[in-house]
Amino acid sequence: MASAEVESTSAWLESHYQVLGRLGGGAYGSVFASKRKTKFFHAKTEACKVMDSRNANLCDHEGKIMRKLHGLEGVVSLHKAHKDSECTCLVMELCASDLMAALGTELTPYHVPTLANHFRHLVQTVQAMHRLEVVHRDLKPENILVTKKGELKLADFGVAVDCSSRPRGSPLRIQGEVGTRRYWAPEIVSGGGYDEKVDVFALGLILYFMLEMKRPFDGFDPHGECFFEERRLVFEQSPKAAQDLIMKMTEKDPWRRITLEAALKHPWLQRRKHFDFVITHIV
Ligand SMILES: Nc1ncnc2c1ncn2[C@@H]1O[C@H](COP(=O)(O)OP(=O)(O)OP(=O)(O)O)[C@@H](O)[C@H]1O
Ligand SMILES: [Mg+2]
Repeated sequence: MASAEVESTSAWLESHYQVLGRLGGGAYGSVFASKRKTKFFHAKTEACKVMDSRNANLCDHEGKIMRKLHGLEGVVSLHKAHKDSECTCLVMELCASDLMAALGTELTPYHVPTLANHFRHLVQTVQAMHRLEVVHRDLKPENILVTKKGELKLADFGVAVDCSSRPRGSPLRIQGEVGTRRYWAPEIVSGGGYDEKVDVFALGLILYFMLEMKRPFDGFDPHGECFFEERRLVFEQSPKAAQDLIMKMTEKDPWRRITLEAALKHPWLQRRKHFDFVITHIV
């Protein structure tokens, strides 16, 4: 999303926190690892997402969604939100990395049964989020954070949408080409509206990324006109059962796409006996 990345902290952050380093960010703001300045107790390091006050609406929106999801185990926790005339800031729990960076390292890859368990938790979190009628719309490895223990947490709710205020019983029809084109489900561009199944599609691509260790649709131009017709997934190392799940999650027709409930019953996501392996490359 970023064109010119915003890298500055803010006077508020500098006066209340010791800023330890920049974790990431894009066009609208930056995330800094920061430690609260206090004389009374040992402060933990937190992640502070700072946005210019001109983008206060975006930050307010993200804070609102995070508060709604507060308490869901697989969602990054919001500790505090600050707003002044210069900046807005979301203070969050600090994670070790994002999934893109974690899997981009050349260290030992995830053990496959471990990966299946972490992915199952991610699917359960997205399912719980959908039950609260929130659709993320920008699921991708950069927006999935990894804790020190290797758990996956959902983050970056900047373009998430809360559909709970629509008239009771009316079908979900979301509009808007938002998020990241590479992870878009085809129905996002068809113009007829879409629903929470766009998140299922993106989750399928995230699983592809986790197993194949490469971005989906590499070689296709995600900005090209024919992108949606031509693209296909090339498998080199995913187990056959996982390939089947990925294909069902990335089914082009949203009506035929597997539901999260059914995905959780898929053989590849059935609970394995030995799932306590340590993920050595990210801790
Ligand atoms: N709580 C956190 N702990 C650790 N790292 C984080 C945390 N939050 C964000 N990050 C890092 O900062 C990056 C950017 O954060 P985020 O996705 O929230 O911003 P962004 O909205 O993508 O920026 P933009 O939309 O402006 O491009 C993440 O991909 C991740 O690497
Ligand atoms: Mg992001």
